[in-house]
Amino acid sequence: MMDKDSAAKRIHELRTVLEHHNRRYYQQDAPEISDAEYDQLMRELQDLEAVYPDDDLASSPTQRVGSAPLSRFAPFSHPQAMLSLANAFSSQEILDFDSRIRRLANQDRMDYVAEPKLDGLAVNLIYEGGFFRHGATRGDGFTGEDVTQNLKTISSMPLRIKQIESLVVPEFIEVRGEVYMEKKPFAKLNRRREENDEEPFANPRNAAAGSLRQLDPKVTARRPLNIFLYGIGTVRGIHFTSHWEILQALAQWGFPVNPLICQAEDITACIDYFGHIHSIRPGLPYEIDGVVLKVNKLSGQETLGNVSRSPRWALACKFPPEQATTLIRDILLQVGRTGTLTPVAIMEPVSVGGVMVSRATLHNEDEIIKKDIRIGDTAVIQRAGDVIPEVIKIMEAKRNGQEKIFRMPSRCPECGSEIVRLQGEAAHRCINLSCPAQIKEHIRHFASRGAMDIEGLGEKVSAQLFDAKLINDPADLYFLKKEQLLGLDRQANKSAEKLLDAIERSKTPPLDKFIFALGIRHVGEQTAKILAGHFGSMENLMKANTDDLTALNEIGPEIAQSIVEFFAEDKNRKVMGKFHLAGLSPQFHNQVTDTILKGKAFVFTGSLESMGRNDAKALVESLGGFVQSSVTGRTSYVVTGSEPGSKLDKARREGITIISEKDFLKLIGR
Ligand code: IVH
Repeated sequence: MMDKDSAAKRIHELRTVLEHHNRRYYQQDAPEISDAEYDQLMRELQDLEAVYPDDDLASSPTQRVGSAPLSRFAPFSHPQAMLSLANAFSSQEILDFDSRIRRLANQDRMDYVAEPKLDGLAVNLIYEGGFFRHGATRGDGFTGEDVTQNLKTISSMPLRIKQIESLVVPEFIEVRGEVYMEKKPFAKLNRRREENDEEPFANPRNAAAGSLRQLDPKVTARRPLNIFLYGIGTVRGIHFTSHWEILQALAQWGFPVNPLICQAEDITACIDYFGHIHSIRPGLPYEIDGVVLKVNKLSGQETLGNVSRSPRWALACKFPPEQATTLIRDILLQVGRTGTLTPVAIMEPVSVGGVMVSRATLHNEDEIIKKDIRIGDTAVIQRAGDVIPEVIKIMEAKRNGQEKIFRMPSRCPECGSEIVRLQGEAAHRCINLSCPAQIKEHIRHFASRGAMDIEGLGEKVSAQLFDAKLINDPADLYFLKKEQLLGLDRQANKSAEKLLDAIERSKTPPLDKFIFALGIRHVGEQTAKILAGHFGSMENLMKANTDDLTALNEIGPEIAQSIVEFFAEDKNRKVMGKFHLAGLSPQFHNQVTDTILKGKAFVFTGSLESMGRNDAKALVESLGGFVQSSVTGRTSYVVTGSEPGSKLDKARREGITIISEKDFLKLIGR
């Protein structure tokens, strides 16, 4: 048995070594030791820590990674709601904000804290007795997803509040901030994804969100995530008087706080700050989309309070969308899975706000004519957040007469069939159902992240499998054999196995993902969720007629028609039969798939006949809504059982919708 001192020394050594190997393995994708060697070191540390627990145990590598994958995230109610911010898009709006709040607070001058507005996703971290206990995404501001295990893998996030003299550790605190991914690691992650024919992320924010919302913490651990903290919610055991003081304390406790955060003595200083941050934005290692101004004094914040779901004391000042000019080399047509032909500008690659762009959508022929876009033109392009870059205008002064006018061909560039433009539609369409480009696109969509999420089955592999005549529709994927794959390009033994594995794993998809994956016209992710939540199985959905469908609030006649036609079509019925034969079995769990009550707040009063209060609460939460204990301005419905209490009177006074238990059951589709 080791003595205490040598144990402490060995523990320290092992932690340092394991932290190094974690970085090599998870972040740099370049392990130096075998998994078995790693496991052995980890076990040695775990054993020692069990006998000799110490003060640093909470931040030990044994606490960061290693928990098992979840089947779903548990909902997490934030002790204090996470609000959002009001936006301003011009200096005038910033000045108006200042005048308004100075008037309300009766002050000549207001002092602020000015911060970069990080483009990631907001999280809430709960520390009890100085230890990290829970962490959750923002969700709808009231309820988020419990992503505690995933947050622990972010190495810059303290698992324990650092104790320093002159600053007490609060017994309870909610620390708020933003999880984000830096631009360079983001680009690297996307390069790797493309090499593996995995769908690249549209931007660092989506990459951060997608990484944090992985059910397997080991996947999250491999993603280069970072965090900055910029505020607190509930706090017990310490008192603050200003926002600046809070940020100072967070930094001293060991939380990463953005170094560009400044105090600003008045609104003029804030506007200068906005200009400065805007000018250094392209060179920052991470993406920001504006600056946030916050009233510094907490007493001032309190006086001002909130309007609906945003504090009156804070403002998000957004940067204008990023633009660049570049040359349009060509205009190509992209065939979508429903045959829509979208003209795309192929451009000289150009950096727009730190992200390289070489394609921009031109939407449709009318748009090209309206903006008079020609091949060879110099164009101003714009990228705003998530959206695909667009051509804003062309620069006529740069024309030399060599520019070529683009004409919509009369035949599909992929299959040679006739192109039509349906009445009332802006898009041209290839109406050949066997158009190879459409089928390939359809298969790629089926396998994509938001749908069946089959890793390694992106654009390239979908096309390869189709061109090699191994598959003709998505159901054929489930009948592929390893020998067939070995003949293909790039499909070495191991990657063939990996692909077949991924296909096999996709056989029990959530019902809504499967419905979305089918590629029914007008059925996007949201509609698919509504359909899954209501019908609960493929059989029920396939049996539904247009009346059954339009009975759902969110389903209009056009969507209903499209769904019925889809399942009536012989070819589609055959494909559905093949899915069945392959053993594909979509899963329906109320908890994960439903959002029909998303953001809706319920208050129950009186006793319900069909279920207890707790069951009712669970049911509402499983459908994306939440339950309040009393009526507030945010309450969407008050549900009355027998012998309702004073909540009913309050609801009447406030004009809130009051429904019976029967209406409630109808509302949730029971
Ligand atoms: S403060 C009550 N500070 O912006 C104030 N938010 O539109 C709530 N964000 O959900 C947020 N940088 O995801 C704050 N320095 C910053 C921020 C920031 C980015 C995000 C955050 C929030 C959203 C609100």
